[in-house]
Amino acid sequence: MDVLRRQERNGIKKERNEAMSFKIAIDGPAGAGKSTIARRAAAELGFLYVDTGAMYRAIALGLLRMGTNVSSEAALADALSRIEVGLGYEDGIQKVFLNGEDVSSLIRTEEVSNMASSAAAKPQVRAKLTQLQRGIAEENNVLMDGRDIGTVILPDAQLKIYLTASVETRAQRRYKELCGKGETAIFDEIAADIRERDYRDMHRETAPLRQAEDAVLVDSSELTVEEVTARIISLVRAKRQKNA
Ligand code: CDP
Repeated sequence: MDVLRRQERNGIKKERNEAMSFKIAIDGPAGAGKSTIARRAAAELGFLYVDTGAMYRAIALGLLRMGTNVSSEAALADALSRIEVGLGYEDGIQKVFLNGEDVSSLIRTEEVSNMASSAAAKPQVRAKLTQLQRGIAEENNVLMDGRDIGTVILPDAQLKIYLTASVETRAQRRYKELCGKGETAIFDEIAADIRERDYRDMHRETAPLRQAEDAVLVDSSELTVEEVTARIISLVRAKRQKNA
């Protein structure tokens, strides 16, 4: 436990030693470059990188494998009781496990992306992962990326960033990524998928994607990965100096 807690004599007031643990929340829409940038920034800072999207994706893969009808609350509850998501790290790289199986390389398909976005709108799914994510942040200096990190999961994060880019830029990046992997990709379909996912993520009732009031807005449309990473590192250093 790297968070020091001091219980006052009267047993009411708990104090946290914030200097011991630092939490960075990065939220933003699909394809804004969160994972690439977050991974690099975390490595440079020596923080634990937590890709929460991978957890939603692992659940989505589980639901797809079981053929679950996610619009039925009972079917979803039953499926979720049979799904266990875990995180592990190998050489600093996050691995995600579905019932003990390393599914890190199986969760990046468009089918899983779309199911993840639909499943993520379900309160039962969010409740399951909220607990897991908060637990990880309690015990480590983390850089966590997702959709609701600054607003719901870590509202007390010392630094919040809302990373975005235009739909065209994001679709272009996804297109290149898929082509690079040798997969067939149609630009217009990717752009339409991104628009649809943005809409679902921003308009769902539970934990919708939105910029936290105290988040710094970073638009990566005209910036390279290195430029955005450097900007984030300098924001962290400025905050840490201020808090020191
Ligand atoms: O990489 P990309 O931005 O496309 O997606 P991701 O971060 O891997 O997340 C996959 C899906 O999970 C997103 O479309 C969101 O709907 C959902 N998600 C969420 O609702 N909350 C999070 N904290 C992370 C992901």
